[in-house]
Amino acid sequence: MKIAVLPGDGIGPEIMAEAVKVLRRLESHQVRFELEFADVGGIAYAKHGHPLPEATLALAKQADAVLFGAVGDPRYDALERALRPEQAILGLRKSLGLFANLRPAALYAELASASSLKPEVVAGLDILIVRELTGDIYFGQPRGRRSAPDGAFAGQPEAFDTMRYSRPEIERIAHVAFQAARTRKAAGHAGKVTSVDKANVLETFQFWRDVVTEVHAQYQDIELEHMYVDNAAMQLVRAPKKFDVIVTGNMFGDILSDEAAMLTGSIGMLPSASLNADKRGLYEPSHGSAPDIAGKGMANPLATILSAAMMLRYSLAQPEMAVRIEQAVQAVLRQGLRTADIAEPGSRRVGCVQMGDAVVAALG
Ligand code: IPM
Ligand code: MN
Repeated sequence: MKIAVLPGDGIGPEIMAEAVKVLRRLESHQVRFELEFADVGGIAYAKHGHPLPEATLALAKQADAVLFGAVGDPRYDALERALRPEQAILGLRKSLGLFANLRPAALYAELASASSLKPEVVAGLDILIVRELTGDIYFGQPRGRRSAPDGAFAGQPEAFDTMRYSRPEIERIAHVAFQAARTRKAAGHAGKVTSVDKANVLETFQFWRDVVTEVHAQYQDIELEHMYVDNAAMQLVRAPKKFDVIVTGNMFGDILSDEAAMLTGSIGMLPSASLNADKRGLYEPSHGSAPDIAGKGMANPLATILSAAMMLRYSLAQPEMAVRIEQAVQAVLRQGLRTADIAEPGSRRVGCVQMGDAVVAALG
């Protein structure tokens, strides 16, 4: 099994080193991981002049899965957009066709008091955000700057982006969401999909609502509800447990998944999977490169370690290994080990490396 390992910027290399330790620990005579490292993001720009060098893209394309750290570094914020570190992840998503982004937000019982919400509001929370990842205003053309063609400010400089979705783009992400709801229902969840849109204002999202409703006809066992994005943002902090699976577009999903992550106490805990039509995928923590704490050894590696578990489950057909990792993470939390982001009074503060070592130890 060949895995492209792309640590990236900021805390990326630190958290990735811990995930790699965990993968190495799981190897046996039967299972070997061929880990191939490559540069991505700001570091790739610094070394090769581009945030997504051709060699990195080629490796990602031929690997069975991609394990991704984080990109972004204020040192490169002044570069033209095409060379900024963020373009690496956007380019990988587009080139590999990774249209389905799964972002679970589940609360570990051990971390109930790390949430900013009351424990009873979040206790037992386990929701899944399915974010469309290769369309919407992120990729719509045309975009750019120009002189305003009409209106009160005609002739003045303006900037514009294009929000758009095609029918097949909406259909395929709706199928992913309904199927995920079905799988979760079998495991005791509600069997409900909440489709989040802004159909009251945007043509794109009235179309989204129509197409999702059509696809739903094939999933009579699953309940579908529609919700406007502003209301969804409110309900997520008011009564998050009323959600099961949320499906939404690229930009709303970007925003709501950060919000949902915080319900669980720390975005440092949450993995994500970005899948294409062949279930090949890229796995990355939901958090960013955290340049403010990079190199200090205090980052939380658990989101990356849990992303490796998702990779084993979805792309490498090793569900037992995924469960072993998830149980090991639970075990270290139960031991009271906490990185700074999830620290509580009375917990044992550890750094990134110690946290990784503890997970490896808990794997037995
Ligand atoms: C994310 C990030 C990216 C996004 C950025 C880094 C381009 O915020 O993965 O959520 O907006 O999709
Ligand atoms: Mn984001």
